[in-house]
Amino acid sequence: MVYDPEGIYRLSAWTDLIPESEIRRLLRFTVKYYFAGGKPGILPLETFINILEELAAEQREDLKKGNFFNVLGQYNYEKTAGYDPLRLVLAKRLKYKDGIPLPNDENEMKEKVIITTGSQQSLFILGDIFIDPGDIVIAPMPTYLGFLGPMMRFDARIILIPIDDKGMVPEYVEKAIEISQKKFNKKPDFIYVIPDSDNPSGTTMPINRRKKLLEIAQREKVLIVEDAAYREIQFRERDPPIKSMDKENKWVCYLRTTSKEAAVFRVGYAVLPDAIVPDFLKSKGYIDLATAAIGQAILKIYYERYIDKVLPETVRGYEKRCCTMRDSIDRYFPEGYRTDPTGGFFIWWESKKDVDLKAFLEKVAIPNDVSYVPGAAFYPLPRFGFVYDPDTNDIIKLSSIKKNTMRLSFSYLPEDMIEEGIKKLGKLLSEKL
Ligand SMILES: Cc1ncc(COP(=O)(O)O)c(C=O)c1O
Repeated sequence: MVYDPEGIYRLSAWTDLIPESEIRRLLRFTVKYYFAGGKPGILPLETFINILEELAAEQREDLKKGNFFNVLGQYNYEKTAGYDPLRLVLAKRLKYKDGIPLPNDENEMKEKVIITTGSQQSLFILGDIFIDPGDIVIAPMPTYLGFLGPMMRFDARIILIPIDDKGMVPEYVEKAIEISQKKFNKKPDFIYVIPDSDNPSGTTMPINRRKKLLEIAQREKVLIVEDAAYREIQFRERDPPIKSMDKENKWVCYLRTTSKEAAVFRVGYAVLPDAIVPDFLKSKGYIDLATAAIGQAILKIYYERYIDKVLPETVRGYEKRCCTMRDSIDRYFPEGYRTDPTGGFFIWWESKKDVDLKAFLEKVAIPNDVSYVPGAAFYPLPRFGFVYDPDTNDIIKLSSIKKNTMRLSFSYLPEDMIEEGIKKLGKLLSEKL
């Protein structure tokens, strides 16, 4: 036992097998130049202060008028599926802005949107309701560690698919499903994908790949988990979500979050195939009974009246930060390869020369007041990991992980600090290399 050397407590097996997430660990270090977690740094604070005042005024008015139960509800346990007025506002936005196929009737429409305690909770619940030990999931290589954690916790086998600058290659996904069937006698339970500005790679999947992925999912009867955390943080015109093409609402779990487009209230929202909703809610109920009501009441006002007024400026702000980080990397970093994001919060960088960027982070970067997430954090532990290898057209065990990569987040700091921090990091790297 790592944390219980005397072995007093009989903890479950996974606690010993899976370490704490790299990001949670890094969040504990306070550094000046913070490029580690995907923390939003541009939030419409004035707007939220106004909303809090509005909400308080509404609640006072309600109490005065004797609408006691309206107010009581906002400080109470909510329905497990969420606060209906927020569900309706979000459903309309999903339907009319992103073409998510939802019924026209408002009552039916809102029922299709499930509120979660962050979209992180959806990832955990999907693991909880789909994965038995040894089950299979497909994910890009590298992939979001908040997805990997729950999958490893439920003891999934994770098949990683090589990516290029447009994300996962659908043909490789197709082959991996075929081989998984032959080799493990099992189809994957789902394919995880972040089409709009992937975390960590920063790549965006073009429309033809989105279509192709859905065709594969339909033909092979494998669910897609489309994590659209950065859907609203896009610097260019957006391609339609894979979910918008899932007209039968059968093949795509569509996950969204308010964390990046509103503020971190720990509220996510999902549109799921009808057949899985009861088990999804059963699991959510066991985890938290319900998502906190008051945050949902605040967000209902934000999405109804404010988001379209403040979001364009927020997105422009992130774009400027992204450009500053990109240009600073080009100017100050040693030779390497970087991605060129068109949205989201992250740039992925790979050093041309061999270097262990995890050791460098701990020994050099953090003591010099700079943080990032080493690329190795975006791979599963070897015992859970497999890779589709296009050269041999086979699935092989994940054996070695590239250590010369890092994810840099441009979301949190203003431009001048991004430039200073990247300059500093570049100098440290150049000295090392
Ligand atoms: C791709 C992706 N999915 C899900 C999440 C979780 O977001 P939240 O739980 O705040 O909704 C994040 C957060 O960084 C993310 O980057």
